[in-house]
Amino acid sequence: MKFTKENAVQLVLDNCNAHQQSLNLNLNMGKAFAPTNIALIKYWGQSNQELNLPITDSLSIGLRSFGAHTQIEIIDKKDIVILNNQPISEDTEFYIRIKSFLDLFRKQFNYNFKVQTWVNIPIAAGLASSACGFAALVLALNDLFQWGLHKQQLSILARLGSGSACRSLWDGFVYWQKGEDVVGSDSYAYPLEKFIWPDLCIGLLIVSKEKKYISSREAMQQTVDSSVLYTSWPQQVTNDLVLIRESIHDRNFELFGQTIENNAMAMHATMLAAKPAICYYNEHTLLAMQKVWSLRKQGLLVYFTQDAGPNLKLIFQQSNRAIIEENFPCLQTVEPFAIK
Ligand code: PMV
Repeated sequence: MKFTKENAVQLVLDNCNAHQQSLNLNLNMGKAFAPTNIALIKYWGQSNQELNLPITDSLSIGLRSFGAHTQIEIIDKKDIVILNNQPISEDTEFYIRIKSFLDLFRKQFNYNFKVQTWVNIPIAAGLASSACGFAALVLALNDLFQWGLHKQQLSILARLGSGSACRSLWDGFVYWQKGEDVVGSDSYAYPLEKFIWPDLCIGLLIVSKEKKYISSREAMQQTVDSSVLYTSWPQQVTNDLVLIRESIHDRNFELFGQTIENNAMAMHATMLAAKPAICYYNEHTLLAMQKVWSLRKQGLLVYFTQDAGPNLKLIFQQSNRAIIEENFPCLQTVEPFAIK
C-alpha cells in the first residue's frame, strides 16, 4: 500500500497524542510567523514525490524579518484563504494548494478554516514564499490546536506542504537531513545553532516580481528524469556540504561565497541540460551576475546564489555593505545574525 501524505500526518500527530491535546483549542485562533530561507547548498530532486523526500541533504539560512505571518481560525463554512488582505478565489492553484494541505488534517480534525497570510516578499519568484508560507501555516495549526509538537515534528509536517518549508522554522543556518526512512520519519531540518556569523549580509536583488513559469516541483522532476548532468549532482552536494561547513566553522568568507555560487550555478546547469531545458534566468539576471563577477575582479568580495526564479541573492560582509548597495541601488539587505 502506498504511504500517503495523510498517513505521514497521522504518524506525527499520533506520536504526540495530538488528538487528545487538541481539545484545548486556543480560543479558536492560531497565529505564527516563519522566516523565509535561502538555500546555500540546494535541494534539487526528490526520491519520493508524494512525501517531498529529497535525494540529498541541503543547507539554508533564515532571513529573520522576511517571511510569512499567518493567522488561522475555525469557521463554519468552507475554507477561506486571504493573502496580503486579498481573498483568493477557489479556482486558483494557490487556494487549491492550501486547501489540499488542510485536507491532510481533516481526518482527525473535521473543521473548516479561514487562513490569512501576510507575506513581505514576492510570491513564487524564487524567494521561498511557499517555504515560509507552509512553515507558518503548520506553526499556526500547532498554536490553534495546542499540539505542543517538537520542532522536528513540525518540520516533517511543513515538508509535506513544500520540501524547503521544513527549513523555514528557524533563523540562522539550518540543515535538512534527507533521512533514510522510506516514509520520511527522519527527513527533517534542524538549526546549526553553534554557528553564527554576525558579519554576514544577504542582499535580495529583485529583478522580476513575476510568477515563475514552471514550479520548482515540476522543474526538479523534469531535471531528474531527463538531464544527463543530474547524475553528478548528488556528488556535487556532498562535496559542497563539506566545504560550506568548513567555511562556516572557520568564517572563511571566500570559500563560503565560492561554494554557494558554484552550487547554484551547478544546479542551474542541471536544468539547462534537461529536456526540454529549464531556464530561470532573464536578461537582468545575467547582467547582475556579470556585474558581481566584474566587482569581484576588482577585488570586492561579493557572491550570489539563485533559486527557482530570476532573482539573485547577493552575499557579502558588513564591511562592504555600503559599496555594494551603491552598485545595486535596489538591493534589500538583511543581516541574518544581527542582534534583534
Ligand atoms: O521546496 P520547493 O519545492 O519550493 O523547492 C525548492 C527548490 C530550491 O529553492 C531551488 C532549492 C532549495 O533548496 O530551496
